[in-house]
Amino acid sequence: MKRHIFRKRQGKLDQKELELEETLFHNANGYLGVRGSMEEGSFHETLRGTYLNGVYDIVDMPQAEPLYGLANKKETLVNIADIQTVRLYADGELCTPSTAADWHGERSLDMDGGFTKRTLTWKSKAGKKVNVAVTRMASFTRLPLFVLQYRVICDQATLFRFETEHDCNVHNFSDPDDPRLASVSVQHMLPQEVTYKDGLSKIVTSTARSGITVATIVYDTFSLPILSSTEKESTAAISRAVSFSAKSNEELLLTRLVVCTDSRRWKDPLKTAEAFLSDARQAGIPQLFAEQKAYLSAFWKYSSCEIEGNEILDEGLSFNLYELLQSVGKDGISHLAAKGLSGEGYEGHYFWDTEMFVQPLFTLTQPKISKNLLEYRYTILNKARENARFLGYSKGALYPWRTINGEECSGFFPAGTAQYHINGAVAYALILYYLVTDDIDFMQEKGLEMLLEIARFWYELGNFFKGQFMINCVTGPDEYTCLVNNNYYTNVSAKYDFHWAVKLYRMLSKEGKATAAIAATGICEEEIAAFEKAEQAMFLPYDKDLDINLQDDSFLQKKQWDIKATPKEKFPLLLHYHPLTLYNHQVCKQADTVFAHYLYEEYTSYSTMLHSYDYYERLTTHDSSLSPCIFSIMASRLGLHEKAYAYFKDSIEIDIHNTHGNTKDGIHTANMGGSYLCIVFGFAGLRIKETGIYLYPYLPTAWKGYAFCLTLRNLHMHVHIHLDEIALWLEEKTIQKIFLYDKERTITEKKISFQLQQRSNK
Ligand code: BGC
Repeated sequence: MKRHIFRKRQGKLDQKELELEETLFHNANGYLGVRGSMEEGSFHETLRGTYLNGVYDIVDMPQAEPLYGLANKKETLVNIADIQTVRLYADGELCTPSTAADWHGERSLDMDGGFTKRTLTWKSKAGKKVNVAVTRMASFTRLPLFVLQYRVICDQATLFRFETEHDCNVHNFSDPDDPRLASVSVQHMLPQEVTYKDGLSKIVTSTARSGITVATIVYDTFSLPILSSTEKESTAAISRAVSFSAKSNEELLLTRLVVCTDSRRWKDPLKTAEAFLSDARQAGIPQLFAEQKAYLSAFWKYSSCEIEGNEILDEGLSFNLYELLQSVGKDGISHLAAKGLSGEGYEGHYFWDTEMFVQPLFTLTQPKISKNLLEYRYTILNKARENARFLGYSKGALYPWRTINGEECSGFFPAGTAQYHINGAVAYALILYYLVTDDIDFMQEKGLEMLLEIARFWYELGNFFKGQFMINCVTGPDEYTCLVNNNYYTNVSAKYDFHWAVKLYRMLSKEGKATAAIAATGICEEEIAAFEKAEQAMFLPYDKDLDINLQDDSFLQKKQWDIKATPKEKFPLLLHYHPLTLYNHQVCKQADTVFAHYLYEEYTSYSTMLHSYDYYERLTTHDSSLSPCIFSIMASRLGLHEKAYAYFKDSIEIDIHNTHGNTKDGIHTANMGGSYLCIVFGFAGLRIKETGIYLYPYLPTAWKGYAFCLTLRNLHMHVHIHLDEIALWLEEKTIQKIFLYDKERTITEKKISFQLQQRSNK
């Protein structure tokens, strides 16, 4: 059985390195996220954060020219009370690298056990050698629970003192020079109750404006008898100092249980936190770690994706998958933020990133998690309806470009609200979920209603012109080209959505199962017929001379940006050029038309995809981390295997090697999902269509093989590629039909091997 582990030796602890490690070694479980700060802190101001998915405050977003309808408030993820501060003193000296006569440290993430570990060997000025090991875990089985174990041992008898803090006097991070971060630093959580009694440190806080209450309880126990203990309560913090006398080589262990709860999920957060804590204490530490391990062993069983022949990439891929599990909301109340729960980049907002890049992983391996993500979109459907009304549309729903609780939070509408393709993302996720799971009940209860409202929005957004359906004044995925007419990506996704809205409506109506959706939307046959007409008449921009799909009507008319001649330090362009300069050029921040070709290949030809790839690749900066993975998938599909591999490597490395330089603000979840898509949809050539499941695998020449498992209609199909062989089998005793290189095959419980073809996968 493969071990999933990620290790890093600590080196120079400058601010950059510390902030990077805080992200890479954060602990999260989809509800609770704690940045991997050094418990004792450091001389540098870093981003010491604790977050609860979906717990936000409201902040003003003043618009200099307040035109009608511009959002002037936004939701922002809040940093709740600090629960990770523990300072260790050995004979009065603070145990931290910067005070050591000598030290070395390592950090690791055990993705099977579900915990991080930080070890520090520290030499005091007097020559005492102290070994510290801190283990931290955000429990996957008890979401409000965080466990920290601080183990210390010295080669000589020592007087140890722990100083701990539980403090809600915290701020959110900001950087006025980076549009990807909040521009002002705010203290969102205001103290309501701060108490210390019987070893229990309790803080109840409320957000300044959104009316959400959060309770945090910290409970510490120690393995050695306490020599002395003092506690101090202030209006916003509880601090403690506890001393111990340890013999030489005698272990001192601090075990901390932390519980965090909020009023969005529980009526009485404090009482709930107390109940969770009491259950955790009763279960005991070994049981808590055993539960974590069991949860992860079930996760890896079906979600692991392995590379044979390159350990570094294999480790990187496991890391990415684990981070996604840490980031994804699992309760239908929350979704998945662009940075997960690892930092404050993009202020904890949910974007299309989830549906297009991450959700396919869960749909294909953990459909329950995927369903919860759709449930979340359903909970904000009414707000999406209001959003559409607000923008002046009489019908339909428009999902907010970026949000936490359903309100549109994008301040710059040309690269925000105008990205109507967020609707296409929700529809795509719904349809993929349906095709993979066959969960018709969900479609009947919620999915069809969402699809119909999305189709209605497309219909009213567009218009017929000379017999064709046009969608004008939109922004596609490429944020360096804004407010254009007929963005190919947007139009083709609207076409696909119309197709599915009509198809599912007719199918469910026939079976008498569309009643809930009809009652909720008041949809009528005339509207369905109109959607069908728009689908058929959809204008898909194409240039005959170049044989490419045009990114939009005017794209070709602009001058081309010379990417090769642009100095390295000018990237990402968005931080160095006025938006209007960018909009005036043919230059792409990220995959746009090429993305549409990966998703909706049936609407174009192979040669158009090939020419488009070549054309847009030269104009794409990949300033967005969402880009390389899509170029990798399409390169695989077009037979450009070397490019596919190079882009895949870029994608894998973005966070572990901090190649975009901003991992300190949080992981890039979309890219992490994208690295998985590169393998499954790229190298293995997976397509999920109405007509069935298709695979066109090839093996990158640098590898010996790769393997993954797909959960299709509750059946688990294993796909192993090794050298020139593909082995396919089911875990269950039944059969599954799939198409391998377009030939129909019957897969059973017995492993069957086929010959691998090293050709372009279509
Ligand atoms: C990208 C968007 C993405 C957002 C959040 C932006 O830089 O252009 O496509 O949704 O980041 O990840």
